[in-house]
Amino acid sequence: MDFANYFGDILQQPAYIKKGETEPYLPPLVLTLANAASEESSVNVAPNYRELLPHIDHDWLPTPSSGSFLYGVELPENGPDTYWVNLIQAYEELDDLTKQQITGLQVRHFNFYGKYRDEYPEPAYAAGRSVKPDERVATHPLVRSHPDTGKKVLFLNAASEVDIVDYDLVEGAKLIERLREHIKQPHFVYQHHWSKGDLLYWDNQATAHYRPEFNANATRILKRVSIRGSRPF
Ligand SMILES: [Fe+2]
Repeated sequence: MDFANYFGDILQQPAYIKKGETEPYLPPLVLTLANAASEESSVNVAPNYRELLPHIDHDWLPTPSSGSFLYGVELPENGPDTYWVNLIQAYEELDDLTKQQITGLQVRHFNFYGKYRDEYPEPAYAAGRSVKPDERVATHPLVRSHPDTGKKVLFLNAASEVDIVDYDLVEGAKLIERLREHIKQPHFVYQHHWSKGDLLYWDNQATAHYRPEFNANATRILKRVSIRGSRPF
């Protein structure tokens, strides 16, 4: 955490109420992302081995993190690797018509953890519902500008529900699906094979990341710290 602090203020995630509980839970500044039993796992956690689709950390906050650090404490020999998608390149390689089509669109990003997910398993566009103001959701431009370089970024989450504000629900879902296919292309991707002790730092304002499902019995422990960011524009 001290090292991460050289790069900015540490992000404190807001408190939320876990399923079946009444008291709010304040997530720690250093998050343990762990799977399988180990001495360390007393800190945590639900099993964490299922596939993670491309997502941007904290996109469900009005001011998402600018970046995250991930430290490999204990890692299975044979992976899984983690993959980062270059969302600036992904934007640049869209055809002109699509660029026009998505200019100015706003997207609602929902948190896929916590209370929200249990109450609303179905995507908003499928259910045709409107969003309640207290839900863990934030609205961001689909094409954001990188705050340091000014470059345009296709700011898209493929791991959790999103919907486009003031847009036909069915057409919006189709458009999101098409963009999600687009960002899957391997030439946008950096693939990292972990070794114990690796510390990775990435830009949440320009990348999404994912990893495949792995053996549920494998012990894999990582620690994450995120840096506070600014409101996307
Ligand atoms: Fe993540």
